[in-house]
Amino acid sequence: MIPSEPTSIFKDSWSLYDLITKFNYMFHEEIYTEVGNLLRLKGEPGRYCLLDLGCGNARYLAPCLKQAPPLVYEGVDLSEAALSEAREYLAGLPSEITLTHQDMLAAIESTSRTWDVVFTGFAIHHMTSDEKTRFFAAAARCLAQGGWLIMVDVVREENQSREDYLDYYLKFMRDHWTGVPRDQLEEACAHVRDHDYPESLSTLRAMATEAGFNSVRIVIRKAQHHVILFSR
Ligand SMILES: C[S@@+](CC[C@H](N)C(=O)[O-])C[C@H]1O[C@@H](n2cnc3c(N)ncnc32)[C@H](O)[C@@H]1O
Repeated sequence: MIPSEPTSIFKDSWSLYDLITKFNYMFHEEIYTEVGNLLRLKGEPGRYCLLDLGCGNARYLAPCLKQAPPLVYEGVDLSEAALSEAREYLAGLPSEITLTHQDMLAAIESTSRTWDVVFTGFAIHHMTSDEKTRFFAAAARCLAQGGWLIMVDVVREENQSREDYLDYYLKFMRDHWTGVPRDQLEEACAHVRDHDYPESLSTLRAMATEAGFNSVRIVIRKAQHHVILFSR
């Protein structure tokens, strides 16, 4: 069997992710309420630029953006299916909108723009450790002075191995995600087992500090799901 890529599940079964989020199994409701609050704090409506890496269909970020519309929004994703839905969810936003079909690390490493906010939701954990280090360096480079990196992602406990994290998270999925049909649940579990490489908070903090961020704050934590604000 050909091994799947981290993004296969999002290319082929976007509806499965939609189902998981509809049941709020990854706490999108609470998490994106906080993201909306952050954008209202940071973004003078119509005056800031936001880069969204691994934007998916932008379904949950779109209402936040509508409360604090940026001047420029760019969403980057490798799933064309998700990007075409994103166009619809973002319709009506009075911003200059660009949706880019590209690898998010390549996108942030090559951007020539200065961004006020770099946002990424549940995507960085697919990167290797080296890629995450490069991601923080690129984010620090392209953010304006005082700019924010808002990261939504799963995080490992300190001293928890990836294997122990996976045991915990797959059990959490099988115990709690009861609204997902069995075969689809197992597809989601296989995706997590094969492609999720979350870091601990101290590792993320060390990577960010090394890249030049001077403040790291957990905005909200729901089980393993975090909103972390990095500022420079
Ligand atoms: C779990 S979804 C998250 C969608 C949305 N940001 C959210 O918070 O609900 C992860 C998204 O990241 C995208 N993704 C994963 N790795 C990527 C990469 N290397 N480059 C671009 N997009 C990537 C997937 O295609 C998918 O749309």
